[in-house]
Amino acid sequence: MREFSLTPSRYGFRCLEAVVAPAPGCQTPDVANRRGSPDEQARLNPTLVKESFAHIEPVAGKAMAYFYGRLFVANPDLRALFPLAMDRQRDRFFRALARIVWSLDCPEELTAFLQQLGRDHRRFGVTARHYPEFMDALLATVREFSGPAWSDEVAAAWDAALDLVARSMIKAADDDAKHAPSWWLAEVVGHQRRSADLAVLTVRPDQPLGYLAGQYISVQSARWPRQWRNYSIANAPRDDGTLTLHVRGIAGGLVSTALVHHTVPGDTLLLGPARGTMTVQPGSDRDLLCVAGGTGLAPIKAIIEQVAAADGPAITLLYGARTEAGLYDLRELRELEASSPSLALVTVVSDEPGWGGEQGMLPDVMRERGEWQDREVYVCGPPEMVTQTQAVLADLGVPASRLHYDEPDPLNELVPLSTRVRISEPTCWVLWPRDRIVR
Ligand SMILES: Cc1cc2nc3c(=O)[nH]c(=O)nc-3n(C[C@H](O)[C@H](O)[C@H](O)COP(=O)(O)OP(=O)(O)OC[C@H]3O[C@@H](n4cnc5c(N)ncnc54)[C@H](O)[C@@H]3O)c2cc1C
Ligand code: HEM
Repeated sequence: MREFSLTPSRYGFRCLEAVVAPAPGCQTPDVANRRGSPDEQARLNPTLVKESFAHIEPVAGKAMAYFYGRLFVANPDLRALFPLAMDRQRDRFFRALARIVWSLDCPEELTAFLQQLGRDHRRFGVTARHYPEFMDALLATVREFSGPAWSDEVAAAWDAALDLVARSMIKAADDDAKHAPSWWLAEVVGHQRRSADLAVLTVRPDQPLGYLAGQYISVQSARWPRQWRNYSIANAPRDDGTLTLHVRGIAGGLVSTALVHHTVPGDTLLLGPARGTMTVQPGSDRDLLCVAGGTGLAPIKAIIEQVAAADGPAITLLYGARTEAGLYDLRELRELEASSPSLALVTVVSDEPGWGGEQGMLPDVMRERGEWQDREVYVCGPPEMVTQTQAVLADLGVPASRLHYDEPDPLNELVPLSTRVRISEPTCWVLWPRDRIVR
């Protein structure tokens, strides 16, 4: 078995004793104290839940097939809530479950995650009455796949954990329902094809949808019921409440193809609430460097609109694509530049030798041009571009705290979730989430 070292983590687990007895701020009683009777607190045992879950991880695919099979056989009415193809859902559900299990003794992280999940489930039509059936099927699955790790004590620990999960999600959904709808109906009021595979849509929600420049929403097309996909809002909040989206059609992609090729003004879409943390830094008067690749322009443009409208600090926008034709919003950006004295636009093309502007990859051009140490930096685009931009900025001495981007969705990661880690000779092994390990 390979050996690993543990990263210092916000969990605070750095040594053997700390692993065995969680560090301050990360204690099970804190979780339990927030909710539940003393009896439930006694039963909530993260260690037992983690150990039995380790038996399920290697057979996650089978376990999820069993879980949903069992859920739908016992409760056929629940099937209609889910999309026809369940593979994506199975993966995402298992990753979410793993995250819950791994943060059971970390109340802050667990609570934030469950509250967000609970709110998100409103748009799927999930209500409190669905939870008991769901949790029954989940408990039966864990029992089936825990093998020799199963015992009455383990059963009680899972029961308490799932009870905590259900109550946290239901409460967050109830609280959210007091001030926001489960989803918004939105009329498509504009649909411009900017290239063979890219459309700019403008939609008008049926009631106010609050958001901050830089955030994204989830969208469902009537062509693909129950398939939600995220799209960034490409404008700062407007008086008329309309939102603009930049959508690239992915070959074989369900929702993007529907939005680019089969949507016209007058159509209705469903929208979920705004999410995302890449928003304008309140109180900062630093100049901005904005780096946008492809449709990563959308949230960056919203941020620029907001800062430029407030007559704020200077903004440099590096906007890149492979070819000139890929700069699908160039005309509109030039208009914005003409009306915003604080904005300087730099266009960058990587794969078109005759192009008159900057040539190369965005991170390289940024490095060549750059004295960016004093800027707030906003980046959006393909994941590899964001990673390279991060590396260049670190080289240039820009503090990481000034770099703003949306974290990749952890529920999409395809790496194995955890591994056994030897933390002391000769015999002590613990299970540890892979993203907390340095090789
Ligand atoms: C926070 C966030 C914001 C986003 N904002 C935007 C936006 O502003 N504009 C925009 O166009 N998209 C955006 N996306 C991507 C969008 O959510 C969808 O993933 C994308 O439109 C594909 O959905 P689909 O239903 O067409 O494809 P699916 O049916 O989900 O996928 C079909 C196939 O295409 C592959 N695939 C999925 N996405 C891509 C991709 N980007 N490149 C290559 N292959 C892919 C899948 O792996 C699958 O094999 C954003 C995603 C996130 C997470
Ligand atoms: C342990 C508690 C639960 C966890 C960890 C969980 C996790 C998840 C996750 C991660 C997603 C995908 C969200 C996304 O793609 O953005 C999801 C979607 C969904 N969940 Fe849950 N869920 C839980 C409870 C429930 C319950 C009680 C129901 C009720 C039947 C339910 C029904 C759904 C539905 C219908 C979807 C949408 C599927 C889709 O459209 O693709 N979930 N869940």
